Amino acid sequence: MDEEPRSSLGQRFAKKAAATAEGPPQALSLVAEKEKKKQRILLELENLPSLPSVVIEIMKLIQDPDSSARDFEEHVRKDQVLAGKMLKLVNSSFYSLSRKISTINEAVVVLGFNTLKSLVLATSTRKFLERQLSGYGYDKKGLWKHSISCAGGCKFLGRELGLGDMVSEEIFVAGLLHDIGKLILGPMIEENMETFRKKVAEGASALDAEQAATGFDHAAVAGLILKKWKLSEELADVIVHHHAPAAAEVHPRRAAILHVTNFIANRLRLGLGPSYPGPPPIEGSAYQALGVPDDRFRDLLEKMQTAMREMERLFAQID
Ligand SMILES: [Fe+2]
Ligand SMILES: [Fe+2]
Repeated sequence: MDEEPRSSLGQRFAKKAAATAEGPPQALSLVAEKEKKKQRILLELENLPSLPSVVIEIMKLIQDPDSSARDFEEHVRKDQVLAGKMLKLVNSSFYSLSRKISTINEAVVVLGFNTLKSLVLATSTRKFLERQLSGYGYDKKGLWKHSISCAGGCKFLGRELGLGDMVSEEIFVAGLLHDIGKLILGPMIEENMETFRKKVAEGASALDAEQAATGFDHAAVAGLILKKWKLSEELADVIVHHHAPAAAEVHPRRAAILHVTNFIANRLRLGLGPSYPGPPPIEGSAYQALGVPDDRFRDLLEKMQTAMREMERLFAQID
C-alpha cells in the first residue's frame, strides 16, 4: 500500500490545526455574547418594578372561589384614585347607563362583579404597560392597546367556549400580561435594530428576529418575570406558550385561546405600528384545541373582533 507522503500529511494536519485554532475562539465569542445578553436580561429583570399591589390582590380573589364582591370592593375602596377611575369608566358614554353611579358597590350591582374585576385589572396595569417600545413598532400606548384588546378577546372566547366566568377571568389576565416580556426585550431590540430588521427582511418571523437580536424571545422572558412576581405557574404556562400553545403543559386550550386572540389583535393591528411584521398564521393545533367547528369558528372570530375593539374604545374614555 502506498504511504501518503509525509509532507501531505503534515499539510493536512497543519490545516486542521489552523481550522481548530480558528473555531474555538469564534465559538467562545458566541458563548460570551449569549452570556452577556443573558446577564443583561437578568439585570433588567431586577430593575423591573412590581405589579401594583391591587392587581396581585384582585388576582388572588379571582383564584379564590370563596371570594365575594365585598372583598373586591374593599380592595378598590382602599385606592381612591383607582375607585375614581372606575366610576369614570362606569359612567362613561360607553355604558350609557340611565343614572349616575356614585359608589363601587352600585357599580358592582349594575355591571356585575366580573366586569368590574376586569376593569380594575386593566386600569391598574395600564401605567405599567404604557411604554414606548419602538423596536416592536409600539408607540406609548401600543402595547397597552394590544394587551387590553387581547384580554377582552380571551375573556369573550373563554365564555363562548363554556369555560365559565372564573376561568374566563383567568384567561383575561393572561391576555393582559402575555407580552410583558417585551418590556425587557424592547430596549435591547432597539440597540440591535439592524439585526432585527435584517432578519425580518429575510422573511423571518418576529419571534425569530427577536431571538437573533436579543438571544431570547419575549414569551420566555415573560416566564422569568412571572416567576419573579411569584404569580401562579398555571398562568405562566399559558403565557409562556402563547406562540406555541400545543407545548403548554397544564392548559393547552387556554394557551390556544390566547394564541388565536393574539393573532387576531395583530391582524387587526390593534396598537401596532406600521414597521412591525404581520402575524404568522394560527397554529393548526390551536384550532383543534379550541374544538369549534369551522362555521362556528368564523362567527366567533367576528364577534371576538368586536369585543376586542370595544375594549380599546372603552379605555379610550379615560385617556
Ligand atoms: Fe407575543
Ligand atoms: Fe401579543
